[in-house]
Amino acid sequence: MTTARPAAVIVLAAGEGTRMKSATPKVLHRIGGRSLVGHAIAAARATSPQHLAVVVRHERDLVAAHIAEVDATAAIADQDEVKGTGRATECALDILPADLTGTVLVTYGDVPLLTGESLVDLVARHDESGSAATVITAHLTNPHGYGRIVRDADGSVAGIVEQKDATEEQRAITEINSGIYAFDVTVLREALAQVGTDNAQGEKYLTDVLGIARDAGRLVSAHVIEDLWQTEGVNDRVQLATLGRELNRRNNERWMREGVTIVDPATTWIDADVTIGRDATILPNTQLLGATSIGAGAVIGPDTTLTDTEVGEGAEVKRTEANLAKIGPEATVGPFSYLRPGTTLGAKGKIGGFVETKNATIGDGAKVPHLTYAGDATIGDGANIGAGTIFANYDGVNKHHTTIGKHSFVGSDTVLIAPVDVADGAYVAAGSALTGDVEPGQIAVARGRQKNVDGWVARARAGTKTDAAAQAAAEAGTRHTGTPATESTADSDEQGKA
Ligand code: UD1
Ligand code: CA
Repeated sequence: MTTARPAAVIVLAAGEGTRMKSATPKVLHRIGGRSLVGHAIAAARATSPQHLAVVVRHERDLVAAHIAEVDATAAIADQDEVKGTGRATECALDILPADLTGTVLVTYGDVPLLTGESLVDLVARHDESGSAATVITAHLTNPHGYGRIVRDADGSVAGIVEQKDATEEQRAITEINSGIYAFDVTVLREALAQVGTDNAQGEKYLTDVLGIARDAGRLVSAHVIEDLWQTEGVNDRVQLATLGRELNRRNNERWMREGVTIVDPATTWIDADVTIGRDATILPNTQLLGATSIGAGAVIGPDTTLTDTEVGEGAEVKRTEANLAKIGPEATVGPFSYLRPGTTLGAKGKIGGFVETKNATIGDGAKVPHLTYAGDATIGDGANIGAGTIFANYDGVNKHHTTIGKHSFVGSDTVLIAPVDVADGAYVAAGSALTGDVEPGQIAVARGRQKNVDGWVARARAGTKTDAAAQAAAEAGTRHTGTPATESTADSDEQGKA
């Protein structure tokens, strides 16, 4: 069965959302890495409509700017001061071509779990039945607040009555209006022209269109949906969290069915745009956010937050925070690592514990294993950065770059005072404060030479436990205290790797 493309989808998003008690317009609140209206637009796009229009009014400029960011081709329709879903729809029709024919869908900007498949389904049902209007309905145990579906004795849909306008008898109806519809656009236009505001709320109701179409002899149908989550709107922050958790549960389930191991779905949060390869394992308390992508077989977590980060196949990322970073295949990161924007770690590279990186390109097989800040750095393939190395990139005014060549070795506790350039195949002695470049094959030693002062403890700390220990050691001959052989410098002692 092929479903015709709808002529248009109209997303209603003009409402204020007062119960959110927020400075942010309701439809810009986010779950699953997308705004509520972003979810509505994604579902609408799945039907490949010829036109997509979003109706705005409350915080118009903010909402319109956001929509343009999400979907540059979506049209913005402004609702005027006439209230109601019918008026909102009319305002959208006004900016669509006047000669439009075919099916128009109406959805809400605050119903984030509605899927594109459900809308495609709705169009198919609508087309097959030859209806002028088809409404998605649901049976609720507590239908309070919703519009009710009024059916004739033969079961056919007669119309919709709002809670506030319903009789006692109508309020007992448990089939509710989801607010999601497919309409024949011509019928919709004609019927809306007849809708008034003579009702309990003084609004122009879209729901009246169904009764009007029906009275004009048109077929009006209901399409019952079983999955109630898909019709649920967000009105307050409690619902935002509830729907956010359910969306996440669904996303996690989808990834597990795709071959991803998620050890604890309840504490694993995966945004809508994330991609994950097969046999990846996601450990508890992990958030994969934004446009993050995880390669096949990678192990992520526990306690890890990755935002817009790319992880290669077979990499391991443990107890890490990363933002706009790229982690190569089979690389290892963590525990307790902080990768800031512009970090690129090569294949089989390592960023270890208590390491912070920013704008740093770390080559294949290169290692930054312990307690390091690497900012504005290029670290060559196979290089090793010793524990406690600081790339001092900021002089208080400007940032400067440091380059460490391939297979070079930086000893522990080194400060690389940028800009410096350590060539391929060079060493920097532990404890250096490097201010100049190092050529291939050289070792740079940039620290004070060790000087041992004989008898200092006996003179300056006489009578202390330290003094006693020194004397005892001298008597036992365990240390060469008092011998002159102490020109020992550590020049040959450049181990930087812990
Ligand atoms: C509406 C339906 C009701 C249905 C319910 C489902 C009408 C008259 N009633 O009621 O039958 O059961 O949705 O949730 O349609 N909006 C605008 N402009 C407006 C008013 C609303 O764009 O002037 C948008 C809102 O932003 C929101 C949606 O339309 O996204 C629904 O509005 P809301 O006020 O929540 O409608 P309900 O009274 O709940
Ligand atoms: Ca509502």
